[in-house]
Amino acid sequence: MDLKNTLAELESKLTEALKQTEKLEKLQDIKAEYLGKKAELSLLMRHMKDLSAEERPVFGQTINAAKARFTELIELRREALEAQQLEARLHAEKIDVTLPGPNFRLGRPHVLNRIIMEIEDLFIGMGYTIKEGPEIESDEYNFEKLNLPKDHPARDMQDSFFITEDRLLRTHTSPVQVRTMLEQGGSQPVKIICPGKVYRRDEDDATHSHQFMQIEGLVVDTDTTMADLKGTLLTVARAMFGEHRNIRLRPSYFPFTEPSVEVDVTCFKCNGNGCGMCKHTGYIEILGAGMVNDFVLSASGYDPSIYQGFAFGMGVERIAMLKYGIDDIRHFYTNDIRFLKQFST
Ligand code: DAH
Repeated sequence: MDLKNTLAELESKLTEALKQTEKLEKLQDIKAEYLGKKAELSLLMRHMKDLSAEERPVFGQTINAAKARFTELIELRREALEAQQLEARLHAEKIDVTLPGPNFRLGRPHVLNRIIMEIEDLFIGMGYTIKEGPEIESDEYNFEKLNLPKDHPARDMQDSFFITEDRLLRTHTSPVQVRTMLEQGGSQPVKIICPGKVYRRDEDDATHSHQFMQIEGLVVDTDTTMADLKGTLLTVARAMFGEHRNIRLRPSYFPFTEPSVEVDVTCFKCNGNGCGMCKHTGYIEILGAGMVNDFVLSASGYDPSIYQGFAFGMGVERIAMLKYGIDDIRHFYTNDIRFLKQFST
């Protein structure tokens, strides 16, 4: 056997194979083929036993030299292919710095948050504090302390998501009234508004949503009258719907207020003359309100013979729908950018 010839042949086969290879991953296979245990080069070692003691070291050295050479050839090809790949990647990722940059859309507060911020600003200006309460509320605060005992028929007006026997997703922001009065310990005046999410077991449609927003208001002091309530609500109506608006109070019923009223604002489309928007009445209902029921004051630690209060609750979606002529409450929650971006000023 002519070892030198065999090795030269193997080397030229390897060189050719390397030349043909464009893929880095294939080098692994080639390495196995030419240097692995079953490679021809390794099998040549078997001939050792046929050789004399003097020939063996020379034979071994020649084979090892070939191994080193083959390894080097493969490594050189690897380096070349790696360099090629890098070059290709750099080319592909080349950045043209003269191209115009991407347009980042400027975000904006959601229309409901804008209404809340506007109303918060207004009330902070009148000396109110902003309060928040939990969305998971107890039956006691959501209903009982607000004069809605377990068997009260008015509970039906607020179909609820109960979590346990006595915990539910709050159906209105009114429990924050109770929480705040209890915190104040029955002796401090209270002047708060509370914006937040509320939940009702309603079928979603154009005017109902199982989740919506309310803003609650509560004032408790020793000389609070219905005139204060009316003046406050007139200020809100004018801030939200225009300075020439007027309001009217209609008798109504809420268990937590006595007397209770529903508050209408003069139609801002027809100026009170009557149109489709106000169903030809000249007025549009915007919120519920009243003087805090004595039961609620005492249940929250205030002596009704010393303290009186007024309260109101408004639906933020309803205000936004009226203000901007939105015809479907679901628009607020489906996050269609074409809808949302209309409210930018
Ligand atoms: N909690 C009432 C509701 O969700 C709204 C309301 C009415 C709140 C009158 C009040 C109020 O504070 O005085 O329907």
